[in-house]
Amino acid sequence: MELETKKTRRAIFPGSFDPLTNGHLDIIKRSLPLFDEIVIAVLNNPDKQPMFSVEERCRLIREILSAMQTGECCLVVDSFSGLTADFARKKQATAIVRGIRAVADYEYELRMALMNRRLEPEIETVFLVAAEEFSYVSSSLIKQVFMLGGRVRGLVPELVEAKMKEKLRN
Ligand code: PNS
Repeated sequence: MELETKKTRRAIFPGSFDPLTNGHLDIIKRSLPLFDEIVIAVLNNPDKQPMFSVEERCRLIREILSAMQTGECCLVVDSFSGLTADFARKKQATAIVRGIRAVADYEYELRMALMNRRLEPEIETVFLVAAEEFSYVSSSLIKQVFMLGGRVRGLVPELVEAKMKEKLRN
Protein backbone atom coordinates (compact mmCIF):
# COMPACT_ATOMS: atom_id res chain seq x y z
CA MET A 1 0.00 0.00 0.00
CA GLU A 2 1.30 3.45 -0.91
CA LEU A 3 1.84 5.79 2.00
CA GLU A 4 0.35 9.22 1.43
CA THR A 5 2.57 11.99 2.81
CA LYS A 6 0.48 14.94 3.89
CA LYS A 7 2.03 18.34 3.20
CA THR A 8 2.00 20.71 6.16
CA ARG A 9 -0.37 23.60 5.51
CA ARG A 10 1.77 26.40 6.85
CA ALA A 11 0.80 30.08 6.85
CA ILE A 12 2.49 33.20 8.05
CA PHE A 13 0.58 36.03 9.72
CA PRO A 14 2.82 39.06 9.25
CA GLY A 15 2.50 42.38 11.02
CA SER A 16 4.12 44.93 13.27
CA PHE A 17 2.10 43.81 16.31
CA ASP A 18 3.16 46.92 18.24
CA PRO A 19 1.27 45.87 20.27
CA LEU A 20 -0.81 42.74 19.66
CA THR A 21 -4.52 43.64 19.87
CA ASN A 22 -7.62 41.55 20.42
CA GLY A 23 -8.30 42.10 16.72
CA HIS A 24 -5.06 40.25 15.89
CA LEU A 25 -6.05 37.48 18.33
CA ASP A 26 -9.43 37.21 16.64
CA ILE A 27 -7.73 36.68 13.25
CA ILE A 28 -5.34 34.10 14.73
CA LYS A 29 -8.30 32.17 16.23
CA ARG A 30 -10.13 32.24 12.90
CA SER A 31 -7.00 30.92 11.12
CA LEU A 32 -6.53 27.92 13.44
CA PRO A 33 -8.87 25.47 11.64
CA LEU A 34 -7.42 26.38 8.24
CA PHE A 35 -3.76 25.53 8.80
CA ASP A 36 -1.49 22.98 10.48
CA GLU A 37 0.99 25.66 11.46
CA ILE A 38 0.81 29.45 11.64
CA VAL A 39 3.92 31.54 12.05
CA ILE A 40 3.13 34.88 13.68
CA ALA A 41 5.75 36.94 11.85
CA VAL A 42 6.77 40.10 13.71
CA LEU A 43 8.30 42.70 11.40
CA ASN A 44 11.57 44.23 12.51
CA ASN A 45 11.30 47.65 10.89
CA PRO A 46 14.35 49.82 11.65
CA ASP A 47 12.58 52.90 10.16
CA LYS A 48 9.94 52.92 12.86
CA GLN A 49 10.24 53.89 16.52
CA PRO A 50 8.16 51.17 18.18
CA MET A 51 6.66 51.11 21.66
CA PHE A 52 7.95 47.55 22.16
CA SER A 53 11.17 46.11 20.77
CA VAL A 54 10.86 43.12 18.45
CA GLU A 55 12.10 40.84 21.25
CA GLU A 56 9.52 42.27 23.68
CA ARG A 57 6.74 41.84 21.11
CA CYS A 58 7.72 38.24 20.38
CA ARG A 59 7.93 37.40 24.09
CA LEU A 60 4.58 39.03 24.79
CA ILE A 61 2.85 37.25 21.91
CA ARG A 62 4.34 33.88 22.91
CA GLU A 63 3.09 34.29 26.46
CA ILE A 64 -0.40 35.29 25.34
CA LEU A 65 -0.65 32.49 22.78
CA SER A 66 0.56 29.87 25.25
CA ALA A 67 -2.80 30.21 27.03
CA MET A 68 -4.80 29.71 23.82
CA GLN A 69 -6.53 26.45 22.82
CA THR A 70 -5.14 25.85 19.34
CA GLY A 71 -6.61 22.44 18.49
CA GLU A 72 -4.42 20.69 15.93
CA CYS A 73 -2.77 23.88 14.75
CA CYS A 74 0.72 24.73 15.92
CA LEU A 75 1.43 28.42 16.59
CA VAL A 76 4.98 29.71 16.22
CA VAL A 77 6.22 33.26 16.86
CA ASP A 78 9.17 34.52 14.83
CA SER A 79 10.57 37.87 13.71
CA PHE A 80 11.74 38.91 10.27
CA SER A 81 13.33 41.80 8.39
CA GLY A 82 12.91 42.61 4.71
CA LEU A 83 10.19 41.30 2.46
CA THR A 84 7.21 39.35 3.76
CA ALA A 85 7.21 37.29 0.55
CA ASP A 86 10.85 36.26 1.12
CA PHE A 87 10.12 35.28 4.70
CA ALA A 88 7.06 33.26 3.64
CA ARG A 89 9.14 31.38 1.05
CA LYS A 90 11.94 30.69 3.56
CA LYS A 91 9.35 29.26 5.94
CA GLN A 92 7.88 27.15 3.12
CA ALA A 93 4.50 28.71 3.79
CA THR A 94 1.72 28.31 1.26
CA ALA A 95 -0.31 31.24 2.55
CA ILE A 96 -0.06 34.73 3.99
CA VAL A 97 -2.92 35.53 6.38
CA ARG A 98 -4.17 39.11 6.64
CA GLY A 99 -7.15 40.46 8.54
CA ILE A 100 -9.64 42.83 6.94
CA ARG A 101 -11.47 45.08 9.40
CA ALA A 102 -13.41 47.33 7.06
CA VAL A 103 -13.65 48.32 3.39
CA ALA A 104 -10.97 50.94 4.04
CA ASP A 105 -8.40 48.17 4.59
CA TYR A 106 -9.17 46.47 1.32
CA GLU A 107 -7.35 48.68 -1.16
CA TYR A 108 -4.05 48.61 0.72
CA GLU A 109 -4.35 44.90 1.43
CA LEU A 110 -5.20 44.14 -2.19
CA ARG A 111 -2.10 46.00 -3.41
CA MET A 112 0.07 44.09 -0.93
CA ALA A 113 -1.51 40.76 -1.89
CA LEU A 114 -0.94 41.41 -5.60
CA MET A 115 2.66 42.52 -5.05
CA ASN A 116 3.35 39.50 -2.83
CA ARG A 117 1.82 37.23 -5.49
CA ARG A 118 4.05 38.79 -8.14
CA LEU A 119 7.07 38.15 -5.92
CA GLU A 120 5.99 34.65 -4.89
CA PRO A 121 3.32 33.31 -7.28
CA GLU A 122 2.93 30.05 -5.35
CA ILE A 123 1.95 31.76 -2.10
CA GLU A 124 -1.68 32.85 -1.70
CA THR A 125 -2.87 35.68 0.52
CA VAL A 126 -5.86 34.63 2.61
CA PHE A 127 -8.05 37.49 3.87
CA LEU A 128 -10.04 36.85 7.02
CA VAL A 129 -12.72 39.22 8.21
CA ALA A 130 -12.28 40.42 11.77
CA ALA A 131 -15.16 40.43 14.25
CA GLU A 132 -17.26 43.62 14.03
CA GLU A 133 -16.36 44.56 17.61
CA PHE A 134 -12.72 44.96 16.54
CA SER A 135 -13.41 46.66 13.21
CA TYR A 136 -12.00 49.99 14.43
CA VAL A 137 -9.11 48.58 16.50
CA SER A 138 -5.56 49.14 15.30
CA SER A 139 -2.25 49.09 17.18
CA SER A 140 -1.60 52.74 16.33
CA LEU A 141 -5.01 53.89 17.59
CA ILE A 142 -4.55 51.83 20.76
CA LYS A 143 -1.18 53.48 21.43
CA GLN A 144 -2.57 56.96 20.78
CA VAL A 145 -5.59 56.49 23.05
CA PHE A 146 -3.50 54.86 25.76
CA MET A 147 -0.81 57.59 25.73
CA LEU A 148 -3.54 60.23 26.09
CA GLY A 149 -5.01 58.47 29.11
CA GLY A 150 -7.94 56.72 27.42
CA ARG A 151 -9.22 53.24 28.29
CA VAL A 152 -8.10 50.34 26.11
CA ARG A 153 -9.56 47.56 28.29
CA GLY A 154 -11.13 44.81 26.18
CA LEU A 155 -9.33 45.90 23.04
CA VAL A 156 -5.93 44.40 23.89
CA PRO A 157 -5.03 41.33 25.96
CA GLU A 158 -4.68 42.13 29.70
CA LEU A 159 -0.95 41.36 29.58
CA VAL A 160 -0.46 43.90 26.78
CA GLU A 161 -2.29 46.55 28.81
CA ALA A 162 -0.11 45.77 31.85
CA LYS A 163 3.09 46.01 29.78
CA MET A 164 1.93 49.30 28.26
CA LYS A 165 1.36 50.69 31.74
CA GLU A 166 4.86 49.51 32.69
CA LYS A 167 6.28 51.37 29.67
CA LEU A 168 4.51 54.53 30.72
CA ARG A 169 5.97 54.32 34.25
CA ASN A 170 9.56 53.81 33.02
O1 PNS B 1 -0.42 44.92 10.02
P1 PNS B 1 0.72 45.82 9.71
O2 PNS B 1 1.49 46.13 10.93
O3 PNS B 1 0.30 47.03 8.95
O4 PNS B 1 1.70 44.96 8.74
C1 PNS B 1 2.19 45.40 7.54
C2 PNS B 1 3.20 44.38 6.98
C3 PNS B 1 4.27 44.04 7.98
C4 PNS B 1 2.48 43.11 6.58
C5 PNS B 1 3.80 45.04 5.72
O5 PNS B 1 4.27 46.31 6.01
C6 PNS B 1 4.95 44.21 5.14
O6 PNS B 1 4.74 43.19 4.55
N1 PNS B 1 6.19 44.69 5.38
C7 PNS B 1 7.41 43.99 5.00
C8 PNS B 1 8.06 44.62 3.79
C9 PNS B 1 7.37 44.15 2.53
O7 PNS B 1 7.28 42.99 2.22
N2 PNS B 1 6.86 45.13 1.76
C10 PNS B 1 6.15 44.87 0.54
C11 PNS B 1 4.72 44.48 0.83
S1 PNS B 1 3.88 44.05 -0.63
